[in-house]
Amino acid sequence: MSSILGSTTIEERLTRIENGKKILVVGPGLNYDAPDLETTTHAGYQIFAIDISQVACKISEENLKKQWDAIDLSRMAMAPLAPQVIEAEFETTLARPSAVGLDLASVDIYYLCRFIGCMSDRAAKSILHEIGRISLSQEGDQEKKKKVVVINAYAEDNPGVKSKTSKLRSREFIVSTLSLGAGRPLRITKEQMYMYFKKNVTAMTIIAE
Ligand SMILES: C[S@@+](CC[C@H](N)C(=O)[O-])C[C@H]1O[C@@H](n2cnc3c(N)ncnc32)[C@H](O)[C@@H]1O
Repeated sequence: MSSILGSTTIEERLTRIENGKKILVVGPGLNYDAPDLETTTHAGYQIFAIDISQVACKISEENLKKQWDAIDLSRMAMAPLAPQVIEAEFETTLARPSAVGLDLASVDIYYLCRFIGCMSDRAAKSILHEIGRISLSQEGDQEKKKKVVVINAYAEDNPGVKSKTSKLRSREFIVSTLSLGAGRPLRITKEQMYMYFKKNVTAMTIIAE
């Protein structure tokens, strides 16, 4: 996450806190591989996590609380917003963000860790299309500053691997569906690969071109 956030000025961090800027973590599960809270908080972002599972929300909330309590907030010039975990279906949240107290315009980064892989083709397409439309279109991201981070095992990195628990999709599928929703070309700006349960998993960051 620190490589995605890059180095930011104090001015930028304060503006983010003032404007309630968020990283939307979709399906945090047990919070494995979630963004490091200290890094995101010091960058001025609030973590807003949504999971459909009550158990996942409880574990995620406890984990975030522990991290939050360990952060030295006295170093910050302005009080940042504490992380929030909401039990909700993501598709419904995209359609009605106000129902969970969320303004999607405040989301600078969508963080989908091993989420798209567990969605059906239809749901994955509709979610990516909608994220593209809301956050990477000319209207949603005039300054081309928003990011979508998708962490998944991709088909091209795992030839011959049969996955029972998730669907291996291609980068092309993810980027082209986001791009269709955005109505403009997008590009992968960062990639990082690692092994996870015998699969090559890649974290890719997508932005408007
Ligand atoms: C494969 S797990 C990934 C968990 C975690 N991100 C990780 O990488 O370890 C998928 C998570 O998405 C959640 N989930 C599945 N469908 C969802 C939906 N429609 N809306 C919100 N969360 C959902 C599940 O409850 C689960 O916690």
